[in-house]
Amino acid sequence: MRNGVLAITRDGAIAEMNDEAFRIFQLKRTSNAVGRPFIEVLGKHPDMVRVLKNAFELSHLPNRAELRLKSSGKVIGYTLSRVYDERGRAAGVAVFFKDLTKVEQMEERERLRDRLVALGEMAAAIAHEVKNPLAGIEVMAGVLKRQVGQSPDAQSILNDIINEAKMANRIVHEALEFVRPIRLQVEHTSIADVINDSVSLAESKVPRRNIHLRLDLEDGLPPIQGDHHQLCQLFTNLLINAFEALEGTGTVTLSAREGVLDEEPHGPAGEPHAPTRTVVVDVADDGPGVPRELTDRIFNAFFTTKPQGSGLGLAIVRKVVDAHDGKIDILSSGKGTRFRITLPVSGADDWFTAKTGPATMSGSPEDEL
Ligand SMILES: Nc1ncnc2c1ncn2[C@@H]1O[C@H](COP(=O)(O)OP(=O)(O)OP(=O)(O)O)[C@@H](O)[C@H]1O
Ligand SMILES: [Mg+2]
Repeated sequence: MRNGVLAITRDGAIAEMNDEAFRIFQLKRTSNAVGRPFIEVLGKHPDMVRVLKNAFELSHLPNRAELRLKSSGKVIGYTLSRVYDERGRAAGVAVFFKDLTKVEQMEERERLRDRLVALGEMAAAIAHEVKNPLAGIEVMAGVLKRQVGQSPDAQSILNDIINEAKMANRIVHEALEFVRPIRLQVEHTSIADVINDSVSLAESKVPRRNIHLRLDLEDGLPPIQGDHHQLCQLFTNLLINAFEALEGTGTVTLSAREGVLDEEPHGPAGEPHAPTRTVVVDVADDGPGVPRELTDRIFNAFFTTKPQGSGLGLAIVRKVVDAHDGKIDILSSGKGTRFRITLPVSGADDWFTAKTGPATMSGSPEDEL
């Protein structure tokens, strides 16, 4: 059964709890929970305990309500019903629930895609209107620079004009890059190679100065099916952000290890399937960290706290992660920032054995749009 079922008696003891309920609440089915107080068994989910406690008092029980479990971040949809004894007295409460985390994530991606489509049309229109005049400004300022002679004031103003035009041009270019749908060139990709290339790229763009860089890559990482170039863009952007946050001093740690994603050990029809093998890469710095109130916004396009930033770095990062069916988490605890990228190995073994022509991504943005 795909729904979690939990029933409690009037005196607060568990009368029934199925496997799916254990899975959703991330509890080990060590001993039988039946007969034990629900407050004890669900101790790490005070939000659910509160719902059940109130269930005997409420006149209208929630139907298809939603709840985010604070301890795990999972979103569950639930329906409560009272269970009556033969004399019509409420003898207990049953709650039926479902893990909606995947649905929520899909809706969020859907919303992001809608925003990208609108943004894409706007960016393309702006780029069209702005690119030529910008190039004109840069060229004409160059011509003028040669004509005004050695006057330092005029030279400096013209240099400013040229630099500003270049920066505006960079923003237009990045905006276009961002809105263009990603076409993944999927190949047999070594994450260690991606990380090494990304370090060189990031260092060529932002001077590392006294920043100490630690690489901690697990031996024998499985190759993943991914786009080397896009993945380099992803990690280069994260590294540049870390370097910029540290302003010349501190430590950046890049670590990669193999993991498994077993959030969904059943297929849509309830059939069991093997957990997804993943490669988990952490990019951590000991800089100022991202303020909690900003963590939801930093992935938005054009969100920046930097005077010269375009705010597209993390938006591109998220786009590349999504295109690889991966996920990104930010773990910022006041001191420093840690971005965790989880990428599915997705059938790299099959690729090895089958060796059928060029691989294709099942979840490319074009499929999704
Ligand atoms: N490692 C980090 N430490 C602290 N803040 C960060 C870190 N990474 C990102 N941020 C915050 O997130 C914001 C958005 O980052 P993003 O990379 O999208 O844009 P940007 O770096 O400002 O500009 P761009 O990357 O386009 O040059 C940054 O302005 C910064 O406030
Ligand atoms: Mg950036």
